[in-house]
Amino acid sequence: MTEQHKPNSTLTPNQQKLEILTRKNKEALLGGGQSRIDSQHKKGKLTARERVDLLLDEGTFQEIDKFVMHRTKDFGLDKEHYLGDGVVTGYGEVNGRLVYVFSQDFTVFGGSLSETHAEKICKIMDMAMKNGAPVIGLNDSGGARIQEGVNSLGGYADIFYRNTRASGVIPQISAIMGPCAGGAVYSPAITDFIFMVENTSYMFVTGPNVVKTVTQENVTAEELGGASAHSTKSGVTHFACANELACIQHIKQTLSYLPQNCEEIAPKYSYEIQGDENRKELDTLIPENPNHPYDIRDAVKGIVDKDSFLEVHENYADNIVVGFARIAGRSIGVVGNQPQSMAGVLDNHASTKAARFVRTCDSFNVPLLVLVDVPGFLPGTDQEWNGIITNGAKLLYAFSEATVPRITVITRKAYGGAYDVMNSKHIGADLNFAWPTAEIAVMGAKGAAEIIFKKEIAEAADPEAKLQEKVDEYTEKFANPYRAAHRGFIDEVILPSETRMKLIKAFKMLENKVDQIPRKKHGNIPL
Ligand code: HXC
Repeated sequence: MTEQHKPNSTLTPNQQKLEILTRKNKEALLGGGQSRIDSQHKKGKLTARERVDLLLDEGTFQEIDKFVMHRTKDFGLDKEHYLGDGVVTGYGEVNGRLVYVFSQDFTVFGGSLSETHAEKICKIMDMAMKNGAPVIGLNDSGGARIQEGVNSLGGYADIFYRNTRASGVIPQISAIMGPCAGGAVYSPAITDFIFMVENTSYMFVTGPNVVKTVTQENVTAEELGGASAHSTKSGVTHFACANELACIQHIKQTLSYLPQNCEEIAPKYSYEIQGDENRKELDTLIPENPNHPYDIRDAVKGIVDKDSFLEVHENYADNIVVGFARIAGRSIGVVGNQPQSMAGVLDNHASTKAARFVRTCDSFNVPLLVLVDVPGFLPGTDQEWNGIITNGAKLLYAFSEATVPRITVITRKAYGGAYDVMNSKHIGADLNFAWPTAEIAVMGAKGAAEIIFKKEIAEAADPEAKLQEKVDEYTEKFANPYRAAHRGFIDEVILPSETRMKLIKAFKMLENKVDQIPRKKHGNIPL
C-alpha cells in the first residue's frame, strides 16, 4: 500500500524531494509487501523483479512506469494502491542485446490485469516495435482485474492486437510462471514461443470447476493445463522447464538463435573450420534393414556445430523433430522426420508442429535444413476426420512460401506426397542432397509391387517368389536416389560423412539469397 511520504524536516526542501524519490523507489520494489513476497517464495516461485534480474544482464535493467497506479474507485480499491500496479516493465540486455520485458507481479492483486497494468505492457510493446527488439513477457496473473470489469477486458484486447501486429516483426516470447487462465491465454498463444514451468504454472481457457460443471470431468489444474499437458498433449507450449531458473536460461538460449527483428539476421558466432569436418559415424547411421529405426537427432548432431542443437516442442508429435542449431556459427532451423517414432510418418500433429516452426524461421530469416526419412502420411479415419488434408497442406504451404535459404538432405525414405512436401526441389528448395541410402519413390517397394504386379503375382506358380522378384525389381529401379538425381531433382548424392562440410559450404553460398513472393496482401494459409 502506498505510504504518505512525510518530508524529513532536518533536510533542505530539495534534499527532502530527493529523499521522497528514494523512499518511493524503495516502496515500489516491495510490490504488494513483504508478507506476499514470502508467500510467493513459499509456493516455490520467484518475484517479478527477481525474474527480471535473472533474465537481464547485470545492471542493464531500466524500469519504466514504476510509479503507475490503477484508477479504480469501486469495491474499495480507491484505498488500495501499489506503485507499479502489478507489473514490472522496462528494457535491458540479454547477452548484450536489447530486449523489452514485462513481468507480472503476483504480490499485487494476484498479478491481475487492470487498465493501467495493460497500458504499461502496451507501452513497452510499442517501444519494442519502434526500436526493433524482442519482447519477453513473464506471466504470473490471476487474469482480468475483477474489480475493473470491461476496462480490464479492453486492456487484454489492446495487448492481443499489439501481439498480432508485432507477429513476424519482432520475436515475442512468453514465459508462464504461474496462473494464466481465461482469455489471458491468447496473448501468449499469439507469441512465437511459450515456455512453461513444471508444477507451478498452468494455462487454460476454462478451469477445473467450469470443466466439472459442463462436462462432469474431474481434473486438476495441473492435469488440465500444466506444463506436462501442454508440452505433450496440446502442443501449446514449446518448452516445459523444470524450474524458473531453467526457464529463464532456456529463453536466453532461444534468443541467441534469433535476430532482433525481421530486417536482421541472427548473430553469427565465430567458427574456424577444422581440418577434417567429416563425420565418419554418419556413414553407419542408417540400419541395413530399411525398416529398422534410428534416431534422426544423431544425424542432426553429426551435422551441426557441437552442442548447438536446441530442440523445440521436444515432447510433442515426436515423429518429427524441429529445433535451432548452428552450422559454422550460423543460426539454422532444423526439421527432420523421426524414424524412431511411428517410422517418421507425417500426421496431423507433426504437420502443424513443423509448419509453425518453418514459418517462425522464415519470419526471422533463419535458414532451414530439412532431413527427410518419411514413409508418407498416416492413413486412417482419425487422421482424415481430423483434417490431415488441411494440416498436411499447412506444411506444404509453409515450405513453399519460405524465402530463406532452404536445404534438404534425404537420408532414407522419401515416399509419395510426403516427398513433395518435405522441402523438395519442386517447392523451391535451394539445394537437395541425398545419401546413397535414399529411396525416392511413390511408395515402399513391397506395397508398389503388390499393386502393379497383382495379377502376375496371383497367377504365378510360386506367388511368394514372384512377389520377391517384383519387389527386387522395383527396389532396383526406384529405391535409390539416382532416378531423382538423373532428373536434377537431387543436386548431389553425397556420403553421409561429408554432409556437414557440404552444408557449411552450401549455407555460405546461400548467405545472400534474394527471393520474393509475389506481391499480395497476405497469403491464405489453410488454417
Ligand atoms: C483481482 C485478484 C484476482 C483477480 C487474484 N486476486 N485474482 N484480484 N482480480 N482476477 C487477488 C486475490 O484477491 C488475493 O488478494 C491475491 O490476488 C492472491 O490471490 P489468492 O487467491 O490468495 O492466491 P492463490 O490461492 O494462489 O490463487 C490464485 C488464483 C485465484 C488461482 C489465480 O486467485 C483465482 O482463482 N483468482 C481469480 C481468477 C479469475 O477468475 N480471473 C478472471 C478470469 S477471466 P490478497 O489481497 O488476498 O493478496 C479473465 C478474462 C480475461 O481473465 C479475458 C480476456 C479477453
